[in-house]
Amino acid sequence: MAYEYLHRVWQDLSGWVQSPYRLGFVRGHEYLTEREISPIRLVLNSRDGEEVVREYENQLAALIGPGRGVSFAAGRMAFYAVLKALGVGSNDEVILPGFTCSVMPNAVWRTGARPVFADIEAETFGSCASGIVPKITTRTKAVVAQHSFGIPCNIPEIVEVCRKRGLALIEDCAITLDSAYDEKKVGNWGDAAIFSTDHSKPLNTLMGGFFYTRDEALSEKVRTTCEAAPQLSQDHQSRLFQQFLFERQYYQPENYRRRLARQYLGALAKIILGAGRKPVFLEQDFHNPLVHASRSIYPYPAKMPPFLARLGLMELARWGQESLRRKELLKDYLCLTRGGGLGHYLPKAYENRHLDIVPLRFVFTHPEAKKLTREMSRFIDVSWTWFRRPIICTDSIEAFGYANGSCPKAERIGSEIINWPCVISKEWRQQLLENYKSLVSSNL
Ligand SMILES: Cc1ncc(COP(=O)(O)O)c(C=O)c1O
Repeated sequence: MAYEYLHRVWQDLSGWVQSPYRLGFVRGHEYLTEREISPIRLVLNSRDGEEVVREYENQLAALIGPGRGVSFAAGRMAFYAVLKALGVGSNDEVILPGFTCSVMPNAVWRTGARPVFADIEAETFGSCASGIVPKITTRTKAVVAQHSFGIPCNIPEIVEVCRKRGLALIEDCAITLDSAYDEKKVGNWGDAAIFSTDHSKPLNTLMGGFFYTRDEALSEKVRTTCEAAPQLSQDHQSRLFQQFLFERQYYQPENYRRRLARQYLGALAKIILGAGRKPVFLEQDFHNPLVHASRSIYPYPAKMPPFLARLGLMELARWGQESLRRKELLKDYLCLTRGGGLGHYLPKAYENRHLDIVPLRFVFTHPEAKKLTREMSRFIDVSWTWFRRPIICTDSIEAFGYANGSCPKAERIGSEIINWPCVISKEWRQQLLENYKSLVSSNL
């Protein structure tokens, strides 16, 4: 973690010097007016938001398909709840892609089971049957198929493998919403699916997770877990609300320098004043709970804070238009890439007519990714590039049980990966494309 942190500080500082703006991967809710924020504040203060949460669950589930959904404070908690509902426990193994976030193996370890990492494929950057099959043992209880960056993975072949072997299949849709394979949306292929709505995800509720299934019995079990789960403390929710206001004001490209100044001054003030560690996000889950046991500073699993569900309803109301804009942006990226003679670096998924992609990020690999990333860092917040390593948000992938070399494709992809934002306001779209064009033309 120390290395990642120092690297981020270095990138922040060099970004500060090089450019007055920075295009990032998190878009604050600058589109919300003061008046529109009042209903969110109202729910925060009412302590009674059950109806809002139900409405949000119904609307989000309806976007995904005919099934039902249950919300949690984070996607990892939805995942934990479904593992418990499936009866996963000690001596079991759960197959995850070697291209995941540390909070996923953390959830597996919490159940007493062991995560096993399967390789991904270069065509989709997602899970694939050829990576999963060699990892299946008599202990395997469930398989996670991940759809990455908005691109559906080759899910029909994974469904087939799980059906033949009698394994539960959970789709990880944390970073893919509303995309489809042969017109069937992600989330509807497996026994269940999990989604994340944290601030870097397709739908931004700052923090949040969602379980979805078409299986009534499974849905009931997960609902029971959710009902027994506590809320995040009121104090924690207030800090989240402050963070929401902060991101609304400062997470815009033109406010990049002011944001950094505020963030670093705030951190410094905390050190000087000796303020205790009060979590905003749920970073305690970046460790293996068995190796790094510590007193829990928030409940796990926890319910989705109702005021964030209210924010989710607002995000859902604009999703139709927003998803179209992201698809248009992807077309422009592809056109510039092919026009610039770099088409052969694109993953094949972008040409696959079976797929309907609502992109979260535009992604490809390049043998000179390090050099490109350095160039990009003049205008893109590259510290948010995902999956440079098989498990992100930790500096100790071995502590999660990952053996180096066990997912060679994921490791190679990670060393060559380039991420470009697709979540961007209308005002900055042209600038983003111009920056991309200049990168492509300087690398012909
Ligand atoms: C691929 C993937 N799956 C699951 C999660 C978990 O989502 P959450 O942070 O809401 O727990 C993440 C988080 O970044 C992720 O990247």
